[in-house]
Amino acid sequence: MAADLRVAVGPLALKNPIICGSGEHVLTEAGIRAALAQGVAVVVAKSTNESAAARAQLAQTDYLAVSSGWRPQAWNLGSDGGILCRSGLQPRASEEWIAAVAALDREAARQGAYVAASLILAGLDDAVRLAKVVEAAGIRLLEFNVGTPYGDEATHGGVTTERAADKIQEQVAAVCGAVRIPVWVKLTGQSENVAALAQAAQQGGATAVTMIGRMLGMLPDLDTMAPALGTNLGYGGPWALPLTCYWLARSRKRLGPQFPLIATNGARTGEDAARMLLAGATAVEYCSAVMTGGFGVLGEALDGLSAYLGRHKLSAPQLIGLAADRVAAYADLPARPDHWRRFVPDQTIS
Ligand SMILES: Cc1cc2nc3c(=O)[nH]c(=O)nc-3n(C[C@H](O)[C@H](O)[C@H](O)COP(=O)(O)O)c2cc1C
Repeated sequence: MAADLRVAVGPLALKNPIICGSGEHVLTEAGIRAALAQGVAVVVAKSTNESAAARAQLAQTDYLAVSSGWRPQAWNLGSDGGILCRSGLQPRASEEWIAAVAALDREAARQGAYVAASLILAGLDDAVRLAKVVEAAGIRLLEFNVGTPYGDEATHGGVTTERAADKIQEQVAAVCGAVRIPVWVKLTGQSENVAALAQAAQQGGATAVTMIGRMLGMLPDLDTMAPALGTNLGYGGPWALPLTCYWLARSRKRLGPQFPLIATNGARTGEDAARMLLAGATAVEYCSAVMTGGFGVLGEALDGLSAYLGRHKLSAPQLIGLAADRVAAYADLPARPDHWRRFVPDQTIS
């Protein structure tokens, strides 16, 4: 029997936990339709906001796939390594793009799926205004990103890396107070306490939180002796999965098992979705894997998760949080005084 993949994120019933996350691959209607065709439950459209500078930034983007030894890799071969990049926003006018997303969300509804609008915080008044435009257009779901990686780099103020819990609560309350549709709040991972930011978003009225946004990095190029791609860059990759899972589990503990968490950062396969559900996520977003591997990655993730659940005779909701709820405290572990000796070079012991 096929595994039951259905999950609920607050009031939204999703047909499965696989989401196509926001990025350049969903900057066009064609990209969003290609993602929907893979059977995902949600596609989060490329983000927009009111800032002309943030829109113009798309013309200054660049992207690099690197292997674990920091060698550049062909972009379209998929990646077990990392993605370093600087991104930009949807260059089309916000109102025009929101109207296009609304039409796509109506198409998605006929497939039992959703196309979410995504707003990136620049000015709060404009975020509130655009959230109302999103709702008025008939879009059924909004992702509100207050934690892009680039806030400190893009000094034009057109994007925000919000790290202060009190400000997140205020920003989320303003947007959630202005609309009735569910709002997922996407948070930075560049924080000493992502769980506290998640709690602030919850208290502000978020339906769910999406975590964790990518880190900033800088990779010196050994040939040019300059930074790869010339600037500091957003950095993600499969390596980020344990970090995401850590903050999912911490957030589940802090906010309780009922509050929906959406995973982003590090998912490449269906088994990764299983890992993130085990850590407490209700659904999982895929971005870099699609940009480097194509939309088929999404269908493969769906099949992979389904196969895993089938093998374990579990439904998707039954998987959520199983590992998170079994994280032991160091103090409760049995004593094994000599165990460390197995993990050092021979000379250390002799
Ligand atoms: C090139 C690129 C562009 C992105 N653009 C957006 C965006 O417009 N809005 C947004 O909320 N997140 C954006 N993201 C973040 C992704 O949605 C995702 O959260 C992040 O890449 C981590 O997940 P991944 O490991 O699946 O890539 C972008 C990421 C990349 C790599």
